[in-house]
Amino acid sequence: MMDTYEHTPVLLHEVIGFLDPQPGQNLVDATLGGGGYSRQILRHIGPAGKLLSIDLDLDAIKFAEDQKSKNKNQNWILAHGNFAQIDKHVKRYDFADISGIVADLGLSSYELENRGISFQSREPLDMRFDQTQNVKDARLVVNDYTAAELIKIFENYGEEPYSKQIARKILEIRGKRQIYYTTELYQVIVEALPKPLKHKADDHARRVFQALRIEVNQELQSLEEFLPKALDLLSPGGRLVIVSFHSLEDRMVKQFFAGMARGCICPSEFPQCVCGKSPRAKILTKKPITASVEELAANPRAKPAKLRAVQKI
Ligand SMILES: C[S@@+](CC[C@H](N)C(=O)[O-])C[C@H]1O[C@@H](n2cnc3c(N)ncnc32)[C@H](O)[C@@H]1O
Repeated sequence: MMDTYEHTPVLLHEVIGFLDPQPGQNLVDATLGGGGYSRQILRHIGPAGKLLSIDLDLDAIKFAEDQKSKNKNQNWILAHGNFAQIDKHVKRYDFADISGIVADLGLSSYELENRGISFQSREPLDMRFDQTQNVKDARLVVNDYTAAELIKIFENYGEEPYSKQIARKILEIRGKRQIYYTTELYQVIVEALPKPLKHKADDHARRVFQALRIEVNQELQSLEEFLPKALDLLSPGGRLVIVSFHSLEDRMVKQFFAGMARGCICPSEFPQCVCGKSPRAKILTKKPITASVEELAANPRAKPAKLRAVQKI
């Protein structure tokens, strides 16, 4: 168990470069985590600017509250909740004239160690970022979902080629006992795989565990709600920066940004535009930004990270 909320920020230099926070501006960090981005933003905006940092994980908020009182950051607002409701948080704290919004998706190192997400240690299957909500946890998903539902999750959110075999094995074991621990689920995955693939069990388990985490936290649904709201909330010229960690998220961000930059939604076969929609954003990253060789050497967890940014018109 970690007793401080640890997380090494990923693509920090690049995120700050694209957000470009200036003294006196107001910004939102939609995924506070260990506060790596938030602390840098506070430094750039100075005491005349304001920062609203949101997180689903109450431990992240508590850790930041400690830092806030130590450093006397009166201009730092901390909000416990889902970034899918960014509009409500912004309204509640009377936050206006927003120059930048950043979201660093997925989970913190603290959560990886403390929320029954990793199969490296024996923890009760949980995976909820928000421990205060009485929502479903991974144990419920694994023990209550039908085979068809499990297959869909493993395929859609994990792109796991042995989804059917793993789901069937889960149902077979469930017929005898509940699957309660992360390491138990790992063993079920090993058993489900054909013999020649058992030595690659970690790769399959990583995909299945990722799929369960995405389902438990409804990660794609939250992102889908968040993106249009975030763009709406920005002032003209404001920047939206998203760091994602798997292809499903990156695809959603890429398509949303492309749609906002295109404006027109007429079918391509139309000779001229009849919808009258004009572009709402300018893409700042033609290709996604990834971690440098130096960052990867210091923090291998940065490998899948992809940064995309737009500027509101
Ligand atoms: C990768 S960490 C952020 C790390 C942060 N950028 C830093 O530098 O320390 C992702 C954080 O987002 C939070 N999170 C994930 N989904 C969320 C959501 N829908 N709403 C609010 N916070 C969320 C997680 O609880 C986690 O603390």
